[in-house]
Amino acid sequence: MRLDKYLSQATGLPRSLIKRQIKCKNVEVNGQINQDQGYRVQADDEILLEGREILPPGPKYLMLNKPEGTVCATEDSEHPTVIDLLDLENIRNMHPAGRLDIDTTGLVLITDDGKWSHRVTSPKHRCDKVYFVTTADPIEESYIEQFANGIELRNEDQPTLPATLEIISDTEARVTLQEGRYHQVKRMFAAMGNKVIGLHREQIGSIVLDDELEPGEYRFLTAEEVASV
Ligand code: URA
Repeated sequence: MRLDKYLSQATGLPRSLIKRQIKCKNVEVNGQINQDQGYRVQADDEILLEGREILPPGPKYLMLNKPEGTVCATEDSEHPTVIDLLDLENIRNMHPAGRLDIDTTGLVLITDDGKWSHRVTSPKHRCDKVYFVTTADPIEESYIEQFANGIELRNEDQPTLPATLEIISDTEARVTLQEGRYHQVKRMFAAMGNKVIGLHREQIGSIVLDDELEPGEYRFLTAEEVASV
């Protein structure tokens, strides 16, 4: 696709305005100013408009390593949101696929594709979410069976779906859930009389948090990762 058409479709700005931006040297392709409106954009080109990266038109899918202190929302009056961490231009409709608590860290998927995020979050789709958990008190072997059988949480009619608990050390475990009820992991441990003091999401379905990503960093998902959900 031509550079001017690509930028217009990706940003929603009129082609006339984009042409002016290109003429005024405000567009870079792969680190070089590009004043050729008819330049044919390649799939792996990095395109900047006024210094900000412009994502290709079409649905977008990212993974973020959520730091503590951010909220999984598109707007919040008190705290920075995961969307505020994205230094990208055309992110209309981008939203987190599911929520982590403000003090939970790790993998958050962000997209503007509502059907895809529904597949990630809906318990009907049985998409595994894997958490690394640190507790205040020792984790007992007996929890394994209770997690597998489902736990009655306070103020809920239905027990939790079967969950897998792998004990890693006295106070560390890996928990795999297929649903995402409010504060679910913390409430499951609370039902055992224990307290979660650290919670980090490592994986959603077959998408594993990239260990190159520092807290607050993100990257685009590969086509295979997108298709895996
Ligand atoms: N369970 C919790 O308790 N908190 C989270 O952030 C995610 C799962």
